[in-house]
Amino acid sequence: MYPHSLIDLSELNANQVQDILSLADDIKKDPKRYFGACEGKILATLFYEPSTRTQMSFQTAMLRLGGETIGFDNPMNSSVSKGESLADTIRIVSGYADILAMRHPFEGAAKAASLYAKCPIINAGDGGHLHPTQTLTDLVTIFGEKHTVSGLTIGMCGDLKNGRTVHSLVKSLCKNNNKFVFISTPELGLPQYILNLLEASGCKCEFVTSLEEAIPELDVLYMTRIQKERFASEKLYEEQKNVYVLDAKKMLRAKADLIVLHPLPRVDEITYEVDEDPRALYFKQAACGVYARMALIMKMLEGEQGKDKLEGISGERCKNPNCITSIEKYLPPSYKKDANASVETMLCEYCEH
Ligand code: NCD
Repeated sequence: MYPHSLIDLSELNANQVQDILSLADDIKKDPKRYFGACEGKILATLFYEPSTRTQMSFQTAMLRLGGETIGFDNPMNSSVSKGESLADTIRIVSGYADILAMRHPFEGAAKAASLYAKCPIINAGDGGHLHPTQTLTDLVTIFGEKHTVSGLTIGMCGDLKNGRTVHSLVKSLCKNNNKFVFISTPELGLPQYILNLLEASGCKCEFVTSLEEAIPELDVLYMTRIQKERFASEKLYEEQKNVYVLDAKKMLRAKADLIVLHPLPRVDEITYEVDEDPRALYFKQAACGVYARMALIMKMLEGEQGKDKLEGISGERCKNPNCITSIEKYLPPSYKKDANASVETMLCEYCEH
């Protein structure tokens, strides 16, 4: 059974993920065949944070399935500007639409929204936490090129701390016996709960600081933007930006069948000369996002219409200032055990801190 909402791709089992990838692959071969699959259905896109690809690819996906879309891309043009809570907005919009896609700057916002939604909700990015539909996009792209998503050496470079696409992709690929090479400064390394997960998965992992030295052994290089909007100050951001820049010179050291991915937008971390290299797949990857989201919307609208709930135990309010519970005060605190931690650790059920 599919979960009612898609907050974290880890909630799907391997067969369900494979089903979505296969359907996306089929759609990619003949998208017109799927026109009408969601006729009469409405997707609402609620974007509390800027987006180009994610929002437009969701809208394109629904239109290509024969459905329709409503929504906002600036919450200040909605009743949010009058002080409406997330819970109330979600209650209302989920009464208008058949499925929601929501992006929000606070971690755990999608989980919070799912508690009040009358229809399925898809997490289109919740702060620096997760971005499951980008992961589906990444998997469709990797699968399309490599014909597998296992046994690969995958380099992830840049802002591994705040990059939600990295967290979601690691959560997914660590189930498939891949080797990871994490390339970052010490300040921008992975969050602890992801490190715990990696350790429990038994995947081989290397943690390095040099992209140049790491690149020769990689099958996949996943470049990321330094997430300026998640830094406490401009000064801290300035110290981290442009540490890692992929250029034609570094590409000379890479395997002939390396694939370079990036969720985009790029700032300066990949020079424009790399775009001409046939191994640079990030624009193709962005196009795959439509097929991945078409497949996901179809599957979720076929699924059981259950109800989302909290499963943890209650406790004090989460101390992460970026957790959705820090601004939406009516949300009940809830904690679950980190199954991967070696010492007993409780994680906030919304943001996983
Ligand atoms: C990413 C995001 O929003 O997390 N973009 C996207 O959805 N394709 C990556 C980023 O903003 O750096």
